[in-house]
Amino acid sequence: MINVAIDGPAGAGKSTVAKAAAKKLGFIYVDTGALYRAIALNAVNNGVIDDNNKIIKMLENTDIKLTFDENGTQCVILNGEDVSSLIRTPEISMGASNVSKIPEVRAFLLELQRDIARNNNVIMDGRDIGSVVLPNADIKIFLTASAECRAKRRYDELVLKGENVTYEEVLDDVNKRDYQDSHREIAPMKPTDDAVIADNTGMTVEEGTELIINIINS
Ligand code: DC
Repeated sequence: MINVAIDGPAGAGKSTVAKAAAKKLGFIYVDTGALYRAIALNAVNNGVIDDNNKIIKMLENTDIKLTFDENGTQCVILNGEDVSSLIRTPEISMGASNVSKIPEVRAFLLELQRDIARNNNVIMDGRDIGSVVLPNADIKIFLTASAECRAKRRYDELVLKGENVTYEEVLDDVNKRDYQDSHREIAPMKPTDDAVIADNTGMTVEEGTELIINIINS
């Protein structure tokens, strides 16, 4: 099996270009952020998002699965319900960053991620894929872009979905999440020594996808 790890900060375009690259290569694209988002959604639904001990306890009754349709589109199933759309809100973005700091949450999701990579050719995106989840990945890419560029992309996405946000709020959110994701004690986001750093600031989706495919094929 060929395993490609793509890590990088929020809004770097990982999901868009990784999905497009996976389609071209016939690989499965795995968005691991969705797993942390599903835990955050469950915590919000259970009213425990501000209590780490209760979140850890909640894991006993949390069942998360990823499914892939024939187009390779990923669905996140939380306790039997497809929550793929419900997890894409700013509240759940911040909640996911918060729950991802809890070691028990990371441990809970580890085998699920490794299992998929064991059985499939994958492009897996996240924050700790090259460092923790798939340390032996065939190719490791750290995809990044400037904070302003990332905030603009997120902002455009949210506006398209009808969310009522300002660019400044989104930029503030991006900066906060970057800090939090790269300064947490466990599995902080940082490129591994063997990762190729790919900066796609100002690139179109096509250019970003080509950048990734060229690295994979090189
Ligand atoms: O990629 P995303 O924005 O959907 O990720 C949501 C949060 O989940 C992000 O702020 C950090 C966390 N995360 C993580 O800690 N490790 C991963 N492999 C993927 C996401």
